[in-house]
Amino acid sequence: MKKIILTGDRPTGKLHLGHYVGSLKTRVKLQNSGEYDEIYLMIADSQALTDNFDNPKKVRDNVLEVALFYLACGIDPKKTNIFIQSQIPALTELTFYYMNLVTVSRLYRNPTVKQELNLRGFEESIPSGFLNYPVSQTADITAFNATTVPVGEDQLPMLEQAREIVHSFNRIYGDTLVSPKELLPDSSYAKRLPGIDGKAKMSKSLNNCIYLDDSDEEINKKVMQMYTDPNHIKVSDPGQIEGNVVFTYLDVFSTEEHFAKYLSDYNNLDELKAHYQKGGLGDVTIKKFLSNILCEIISPIRNEYNKLKNNLDYVLEVLENGTKIANEKANATLKLVRKSMGIDYFENENFKKEMQEKFKN
Ligand code: TRP
Repeated sequence: MKKIILTGDRPTGKLHLGHYVGSLKTRVKLQNSGEYDEIYLMIADSQALTDNFDNPKKVRDNVLEVALFYLACGIDPKKTNIFIQSQIPALTELTFYYMNLVTVSRLYRNPTVKQELNLRGFEESIPSGFLNYPVSQTADITAFNATTVPVGEDQLPMLEQAREIVHSFNRIYGDTLVSPKELLPDSSYAKRLPGIDGKAKMSKSLNNCIYLDDSDEEINKKVMQMYTDPNHIKVSDPGQIEGNVVFTYLDVFSTEEHFAKYLSDYNNLDELKAHYQKGGLGDVTIKKFLSNILCEIISPIRNEYNKLKNNLDYVLEVLENGTKIANEKANATLKLVRKSMGIDYFENENFKKEMQEKFKN
């Protein structure tokens, strides 16, 4: 069986460092691993509309934004098909058929949906499109016969629901759809990078993000504001590592090469941590070090992003080509689905024969 990846993002804002460690970096690695036969990366604008239906401009404005960051981070359109969800009509049709295979109470029980409902304050007036987005996500995945779906932990309930739908479909209509598996980021930090304020998640609405196009000055300013250890007041005070955002980030990003380059008094992070815990190491030193590292990581992405901003023709061409290929693939799956469901009247000569049989007296 072919190994196929499908994954995507809702275009609702600029991408940040949390996206970089949580998904973008992994996608580039997977793309370049040579282990996958096909890779699809979807800008999920239809899904973004399920909770932004009253703000279509926000979605429209962020489609290219997300595409620019994909390309700037090293997604190579020759290896990865980038496409726009709403431009693939087959996805909508598949969603409609799959809706029959899921109960409303099952949709309400989806933990991610539950959490998002609270977050958005929909309460009693939940748009049915929003409640149904796990079904639409199943269409996204199955349309491409995806075997592998690289996602964050919060998407696990979506994958579980997708597998349930696939199994129901195959049981009722015959073996047609491929059952997908999630692929989680390997490091536990990468699953969820905290915001600069120490809150569990880096998120635009919490205003605690470092964006992938932030200037060196902005990065530096944000790192200087980072939450450390509130009891580490004087340099000589012993400092705490746990819950100290600077160290959480250093755990994720720092390498021995960074120490050699920017902080050669220490060989590695263990030595730095030991000194901090003992006392005698100030926050400014560790923050400057982190800032240097983050600038080193972000500056090539930012430069590429700025170049692409001035070359939108190229970006649009990438999306148009990717969307064309995605349509071919999704239409092929839709054809099989219709056949399995017996709604392929004009494409199947048996239909006429069966009906002749039925009406013969
Ligand atoms: N739900 C994902 C997010 O919020 C986006 C998405 C849409 C997706 N369809 C998908 C992810 C299919 C993986 C597979 O970021």
